[in-house]
Amino acid sequence: MAPFYITTAISYVNGVPHLGHAYEAIVTDVLARHMRQVGADVFFLTGTDEHGEPVADAARAQGVDPQVLADRNAERFRALMPQLEVSNDFFIRTTDEQHKLRVQEVLARIHERGYTYMGLYEGWYCPRCADFKVENEILDGNRCPIHETELTREQEENWFFRLSAFQEPLERLFAERPDFVLPQHHFNEARAFIASGLADVSLSRARLNWGVRVPWDPGHVFYVWFDALLNYYTALGYARPGEDLTERYWPADFHIIGKDILKFHAVFWPAMLMAADIEVPRHLFVHGFLLGADGRKMSKSLGNVLDPFEVLERFGADALRHYLCREVTFGHDGAVSRDGFQARYDGELANEYGNLANRTLNMIERYCDGVVPTAGTDEALRAEFAGLFPRVDELLARAEVSLALEEIWQYVRRLNRYVEERAPWALAREQSRVGELQMVLASLAEGLRAVTIALVPYMPAKTQSLLEALGVGEREERAFAAAGYGGRVSALAPLFPKST
Ligand code: MSP
Repeated sequence: MAPFYITTAISYVNGVPHLGHAYEAIVTDVLARHMRQVGADVFFLTGTDEHGEPVADAARAQGVDPQVLADRNAERFRALMPQLEVSNDFFIRTTDEQHKLRVQEVLARIHERGYTYMGLYEGWYCPRCADFKVENEILDGNRCPIHETELTREQEENWFFRLSAFQEPLERLFAERPDFVLPQHHFNEARAFIASGLADVSLSRARLNWGVRVPWDPGHVFYVWFDALLNYYTALGYARPGEDLTERYWPADFHIIGKDILKFHAVFWPAMLMAADIEVPRHLFVHGFLLGADGRKMSKSLGNVLDPFEVLERFGADALRHYLCREVTFGHDGAVSRDGFQARYDGELANEYGNLANRTLNMIERYCDGVVPTAGTDEALRAEFAGLFPRVDELLARAEVSLALEEIWQYVRRLNRYVEERAPWALAREQSRVGELQMVLASLAEGLRAVTIALVPYMPAKTQSLLEALGVGEREERAFAAAGYGGRVSALAPLFPKST
C-alpha cells in the first residue's frame, strides 16, 4: 500500500474553534477518507499551535497561565474532530514534550549548518506585556490589543534564519514543480513573493518565555512559526508510541492550509527543510475563506455566522460536511449562511439523495419482497456510470473536493431521472413486464450503491447506514457491477428527514 500523509494547519489556541477550522478539518478528512478507500496507507494529522505572543497575550488578558489556556482550548479543538466525523490518526499539540525536543533537534541542525546568525530585530513593543506584537494583532493607532496603550518601537538582539540563502533553491523548486502549490493562482502568488527577493527572518524572541527554548542560547525561545511548521515533521516521531513513522510517511503528500498562511508554508517551510537537509513536502493545497452570509468576514458582532455547533446538533455532521464541500468551491472564498444550508439540506439531501435511497429500498421491498433482483442491470446506465469513479479519483488527486462532489451529484440526479423515466410503479402493474421491473430495480440498487460508495468520504455516517440497508456490508468494490445480487435489503428510516 502506498503511504499517503495529509495534514491540516494547526489551530491557534488563543481562540475557540469556529466554522473556518471545521471547514479545513472536513475537506482534509474527505481527502484522507478517499485515499483510504482507494487503498492507500494513510496518516492524517491535525492539532493545535500553542506557543507565541498571541497565546501568551490572551492568557495574560484572562489572568491565567498560558498552559492553562492552551489546555482548555486545545481540548475544544480535539473534541470537535469526532463531532465532525473527522478521522485524524493523531492530534498534535505543540506543547507536547516530544514535539519540543524534535523542534530543538531540527533547528540545532540548521544552526550547525550555518543558517542562523545573531541580528537586530525591530518591532512594536508593549512594555506592560513585555512583549513584541505581531502585525495582525496591533490595534489601529499602533496600540496594544490587551492594554490599548500605545506601543513603542523597540529593538532586540535575535537569532535570524538565512532565508535569503534559499532564494535560488526556492526558485528552482517552483520551476521544477508546477504543482507544488495548488490552485494555480496561489502558486503564482508564492512564486511572485520569492521573485521579489527574500530577506532573512527573525527566528527567536528574547523577551518572551512562552515557547520552545533555543538549545544553543536558552535565553531565547523560537519564533512561533518555526516551532509550529515543524509539527508536520515532529508528529511522525511520536504519534505511535515506540514507533518512528518518519521513514514511512515523510515527505508529506498534502498540506491543506488557508490562503492567509501561504507565505509561511510555500516559502519559509521548504527553506527550513532544505536548511535541515530534509525533503520538502509534495503539495500544498490552499483553500479560500468562509465568509458570512453577506459576503463579509464572519464575525459574531455582525451576526452573519453559521454556527457549526448548532448545525451539528440539529442535523448531524454529514449534513454540515455536505453543505460546506458543496457550497464553497475549493480554493475560493465562499459565503455560507443558515438559509443556504437549509436550501441544500432540503433540496439535495432530503429530496434528492434521501428520497432516492428511501424510494429505491421501498420499491425493492414492495415489488421484490426485499430481495435485490438478480436480473442484471441496464446496459446504458452502466455505461454512464463507468465514468464516475475514474473522474472522482482524478479530481480528488488534485484536492478538487467540491468539483468531485458536483460530479457525484450529477449521478444522484441521473438516478432520480431514471426512476421517473422507467416508472417502476407502472411496470409493477403489468405482469408481462416483470423482467423489466426487476432489471430497473437492480439497476437502481446498483446505482445507489455506487453513488453511496463515492459519497462515503463526504458523509461517512449516513452512507454507512445506507450501505447496511442495501445489504452490501463489506462489499465495497468501487464499480457499477452486475454481480452480487440476490441480497436482502432492510428497512431504513428516512435518511435525511425533512427539516420542516
Ligand atoms: N496556527 C496557524 C497555523 C500554523 S500551521 C503550521 C493558524 N492558525 S488559525 O487557527 O488561525 O487557522 C488555522 C487554519 O484555519 C488556517 O489554515 C486558516 O487559514 C484556517 N481558517 C481560519 N479562518 C478561516 C475561515 N474563516 N475560513 C476558512 N478557513 C479559515 O493560522
